[in-house]
Amino acid sequence: MSIKPLHIIFLCLFFIVTAFAIIDHNEFPVPKDWPKPVYDFKSNPYSNEKIELGCSLFYDPSLSINNSTSCASCHSPYNAFAHTDHQLSHGIFDSIGTRNAPALMNLAWQSNFMWDGSIDNLNEQALTPLTNPLEMGERIENVLTKLNQKKYYRTLCANAYGDSLLTKDRFLKSLAQFEVSLISAESKYDSVIRHEANFTEQESNGYKIFKTNCAACHQEPLFTNNSYKNNGLSLNSSLHDFGRMNVTHRSKDSLFFKVPSLRNVEYSFPYMHDGRFTKLSEVIRHYTSSISKNPDISKELIKDIVLSSSEKVDLIAFLLTLSDKKFVFNPQHSFPKQLINAQ
Ligand code: HEC
Ligand code: HEC
Repeated sequence: MSIKPLHIIFLCLFFIVTAFAIIDHNEFPVPKDWPKPVYDFKSNPYSNEKIELGCSLFYDPSLSINNSTSCASCHSPYNAFAHTDHQLSHGIFDSIGTRNAPALMNLAWQSNFMWDGSIDNLNEQALTPLTNPLEMGERIENVLTKLNQKKYYRTLCANAYGDSLLTKDRFLKSLAQFEVSLISAESKYDSVIRHEANFTEQESNGYKIFKTNCAACHQEPLFTNNSYKNNGLSLNSSLHDFGRMNVTHRSKDSLFFKVPSLRNVEYSFPYMHDGRFTKLSEVIRHYTSSISKNPDISKELIKDIVLSSSEKVDLIAFLLTLSDKKFVFNPQHSFPKQLINAQ
């Protein structure tokens, strides 16, 4: 077959289209040997420009009714995007909410959100804190009006979407993009798994204890199996929060809460859905001696966990290998300084 000019034109077109596809959508970086992310990148293709816009939105207090509270007020980068100053979330006008703000990381591998899994789409999650009267107390329409008055956002939006109008859909998708970009996979544990470092004897012993007693729920490499479990905490008598049962209305889900990842647990205190524990030693004490033998406790914890005091120290030493300083201090996720003068 002879090559005709038409063939050459088609070939050129093919290359141009492929090149644009590559330039337009950055590749989502999946850490080595991790499962495939579950976030739907088809409906919201990964792009650095959207992440940049989402990052500014995340740190911007004008998302709240009195321009005081940003997403980052409760999800601080230095605490792996959790907050440590209050057991329960702390929103506008010093309001105290009903749950502890969880760490935000590796959200691309999560399909349900909140301690009870009440939200199943990350692209819509942001509307909940934004409109919650104890958190940001705003209306999305007001927020969009405020932001669209700023040249700063019009430019970021044009870079991300080729059009400067920040719509609700673009607002939500950009926030979700920023959130899925929060990948934590650079802890000492990760280096050991990649054969680039070694555990100390204490950490190594702690890892064995962890695998025997904890890993069934806090499953590697994400340190959660993304399920709901009853880990034996007694009912919080002032909050009366029954967790997953509030969503499913099935009594067998009573006091079931989402299994949180244990990555960066050194930074994300206080712990549990109501922030009842401040120290890891209190968490270990819970699992070893104060599990309430309620009839609904998950089967993985029916058998007592017996650990000597030195084994408890080893277990904590292992948990501290999950700290990812590169993640916590990553300048790409930190407060965008341009936001200060944004007009
Ligand atoms: C006043 C504190 C506060 C503010 C402000 C806040 N959050 Fe949260 N966030 C929480 C709390 C508390 C929860 C857990 C809620 C629950 O389980 O019902 C949560 C849960 C989440 C989750 C689910 C995480 C998971 O692993 O299930 C995401 C995602 C999230 N917030 C993102 C955001 C974004 C984006 C914003 C800004 C639009 C924001 N948050 C503003 C306190 C806050
Ligand atoms: C049956 C499943 C299960 C097992 C086994 C289990 N956990 Fe948990 N873990 C959970 C659940 C569910 C929560 C959240 C409970 C809540 O907030 O009400 C949790 C919470 C935690 C937290 C708090 C994290 C945070 O960000 O608030 C830590 C730390 C923790 N577990 C460590 C451990 C350790 C260490 C072991 C082993 C000794 C262990 N877990 C065994 C299910 C389990």
